[in-house]
Amino acid sequence: MRIGIYPGSFDPVTLGHLDIIKRSAKLVDKLIIGVLNNSKKVPVFTNQERKEMIETVAADIPNVEVDYFTGLLVDFAKEKQADVIFRGLRAVSDFEYELQIAQLNRTLRPELDTVFLAASVEHAYLSSSLVREIAQYRGDISSLVPEELIPIVERKYQEILSKT
Ligand code: COA
Repeated sequence: MRIGIYPGSFDPVTLGHLDIIKRSAKLVDKLIIGVLNNSKKVPVFTNQERKEMIETVAADIPNVEVDYFTGLLVDFAKEKQADVIFRGLRAVSDFEYELQIAQLNRTLRPELDTVFLAASVEHAYLSSSLVREIAQYRGDISSLVPEELIPIVERKYQEILSKT
């Protein structure tokens, strides 16, 4: 059984992430989405919210599981008995950073390979921070996140704005 991991912050998950999730899931028997509890980034959405949003949008993909992780990706991959990490590349600018991480991860765990999927052209400009910025100013996020998540993201920003 081939197990893949697609790690990220997913704050929030975007249409670009969903594209990579769908395509990665076809390449393995089981795909685990690893929601990073990142000490370097303070997420807008809680761990639970980020996990639930991915579970909602990936509900119709039977071989996808979602879990959190802290610490090293290679340790999470070992715990999950994963063979491969998936990452999306949106532009050449992603490549340098991603290559470095992939090489580092292989140094730490040589049997773990990273597969890069080219982001679909229509999602190449997308990022979670772009979604957050547009949502913050009550802009239209309908072309950026899966439809089911629009009210969740908008509600979150209404809550945040009502507290400021
Ligand atoms: N579609 C849309 N957005 C995409 C995307 C795609 N296909 N691919 C990347 N992005 C965006 C994300 O939206 C995010 O945008 P933001 O910075 O505006 O929020 C950005 O690219 C990068 O985020 P993400 O893909 O979530 O990765 P990350 O940088 O938060 O984390 C890990 C990358 C999880 C692989 C890495 O940090 C990690 O492994 N951390 C664990 C610690 C570890 O093992 N360290 C050693 C190796 S670095």
